[in-house]
Amino acid sequence: RALGARRVLVRGGGTLVETVVREAEAACERHGGSVRHQAHGDRAPADSVPGDGGSGDGTPGDGAFDLILALGRAAAPSWAAAGIERDGTLGAEGYALARRGGVTVVLADEPAGLLYGFFHVVRLGEAAFADAFAAQRHEPALRERMLDHWDNVDVHPVTRQVERGYSGGSIFWRDGVARGDHDRVRAYARLLAACGINAVAVNNVNVHATETRLLTDRLGDVAAIADLLRPYGIRVHLSVNFASPVALGGLPTADPLDEAVRSWWAETTRRVYASIPDFGGYVVKADSEGQPGPFGYGRSHAEGANLLAEALAPFGGTVHWRAFVYDHRQDWRDRSTDRARAAYDHFTPLDGLFRQNAVLQAKYGPMDFQAREPVSPVLAAMPATRLAVEFQATQEYTGQQWHVCYLGPLWSEVLGFRPWGPDGRTVAEVAAASGGALVAVSNAGADRFWTGHPLAQANLYAFGRLAWDPRLDPIAVLDEWITLTFPGCSSAQSEAGERLRGTLHAMMDESWRTYEQYTAPLGVGFMVRPGHHYGPDVDGYEYTSWGTYHFADRDGLGVDRTRATGTGFTGQYPKPWSDTYESLDQCPDELLLFFHHVPYTHLLHNGSTVIQHIYDTHFSGVERVARMRLAWEQIEADGLVDRDLFARVRDRLDEQLRCAREWRDQINTYFHRKSGISYQRCADTGA
Ligand code: GCU
Repeated sequence: RALGARRVLVRGGGTLVETVVREAEAACERHGGSVRHQAHGDRAPADSVPGDGGSGDGTPGDGAFDLILALGRAAAPSWAAAGIERDGTLGAEGYALARRGGVTVVLADEPAGLLYGFFHVVRLGEAAFADAFAAQRHEPALRERMLDHWDNVDVHPVTRQVERGYSGGSIFWRDGVARGDHDRVRAYARLLAACGINAVAVNNVNVHATETRLLTDRLGDVAAIADLLRPYGIRVHLSVNFASPVALGGLPTADPLDEAVRSWWAETTRRVYASIPDFGGYVVKADSEGQPGPFGYGRSHAEGANLLAEALAPFGGTVHWRAFVYDHRQDWRDRSTDRARAAYDHFTPLDGLFRQNAVLQAKYGPMDFQAREPVSPVLAAMPATRLAVEFQATQEYTGQQWHVCYLGPLWSEVLGFRPWGPDGRTVAEVAAASGGALVAVSNAGADRFWTGHPLAQANLYAFGRLAWDPRLDPIAVLDEWITLTFPGCSSAQSEAGERLRGTLHAMMDESWRTYEQYTAPLGVGFMVRPGHHYGPDVDGYEYTSWGTYHFADRDGLGVDRTRATGTGFTGQYPKPWSDTYESLDQCPDELLLFFHHVPYTHLLHNGSTVIQHIYDTHFSGVERVARMRLAWEQIEADGLVDRDLFARVRDRLDEQLRCAREWRDQINTYFHRKSGISYQRCADTGA
């Protein structure tokens, strides 16, 4: 609205600049402003916008506008006016922003920068047009900010249309064909660009038969999506089947060192670029949970990744090679095999062997997107490899978009974690310096609220914003999202608006920790129902082959991952963490059971015993959800929230409360029975 009521000048040409013009025009149509476009930096005729001090020939001067967005050479007149020195250092996506003499100016060297600068102005709202401010430079910390869709083209018999999808089907595919809903894909591109995302993988990392063909005879479907995402600065990537030369090319092998295999990938990739010139590259899940990979041919993962990297290199493409490689057929009796160790054991010997356009993509923790895990030690152990950190916006293990669980604080903790202690670089800095990426499994789908739970949109937004600047305060990012999403919060400045903002913060700021409270305790993880992973089942995975155990017995619980007596996983960390996690005294409470097997009576730093902590957090977690639900009910009367959205959130809070109670009762009963130790009432509060 702030922008749409203004007089806007856009200088520069090309696809992305035209997107900026269209965006500005749409806003101005709604709110009474005007847009002038000078496509080539030349002066436009003076008919559409009244001037106030122009060039003397009737052309309005810069002072006739409230907002000027100018690109590259076309920006020349604006740089000086904004008091910014142009030195060509803003990069491919950066921009400069200033307000001076009543004019707000966005300047960029490259088109994507102008687009991101435009969305910055949208975020600022009225503040972009109030007090003057000196030039600020903005550029993304991570060059690649990517969403991976785990979407299938066919409806897969087990994982359905979207694997771990909780948002009503795929934006791209339906029942074996491209959905063809161009407006929806365009709207999605716009949403992503506004959050700062610039890359999308359009199909599941588990590449089934039909999806394998996206690389060849179904490539047209991918090209059509690429055409829709391109105007928003988003490049398309494809998850590919490592065995494609066999499955598609009719070759007898997919051996990465076989000449015919190499030519097949080179030629296939050349064809991909012939239809999608700005194609981003491949994503590969190899030798993981049944997917084919180089191990099948006695080759290393560097050899596998380099095969694809080599095919992509002439076109500037990148291969994202996933580090999620572990034995999913382990014997639960075998205590020496530790799934947490697997990625490090497989990949660190390969450091330095990956080609320049290969990125090793590691989940943020060593297990699997749990609500609480230590940071993956792989991220600290591959200094000569480009690294991508993978998050899961889709809430497989964090309430499946039925539960409010704002993940910004979790991601922010991971990105700000310093593997080498207080003086070392953060995980985000390591990934950025390596030329890597930040990736999230997408949580968006065909649902009318995009994400099933309307409040889960905040995770999509936060992911993009943190990938742009990992140092942002996740609660401030949430506040931005609230302002942009619920106009009632900002426009009115009313008591009701403030109440809504306060309610959303009260529900969301701590929601990840609330979820952690009522689910698996102290970092031990899982305890979810096998298969779909929703709701509690303490022993659901205990005697399976998946490597996710808690080892609870009558005396205690937790996984001994120490060097002294356990699996030695603590030794994969650099100092000081290898010592901190090894030590029972120093290990942070929230990760205690990830690293140690302890008796129920073990005393935590917070003064509670483990068993009492389990009871207390499970009671408290449910109470917190009950309060969330009540708080939401109370804002209904203010009428600031769309009725359908209100009802959707209310219904999901009902389910969250039911499920949290189920977690509480199963966990507390289970550990009461196992330990035989009763709950101690708190003497002070009588709780
Ligand atoms: C988890 C998830 C799978 C997914 C896998 C992956 O195990 O449950 O659905 O395929 O992660 O990240 O590849």
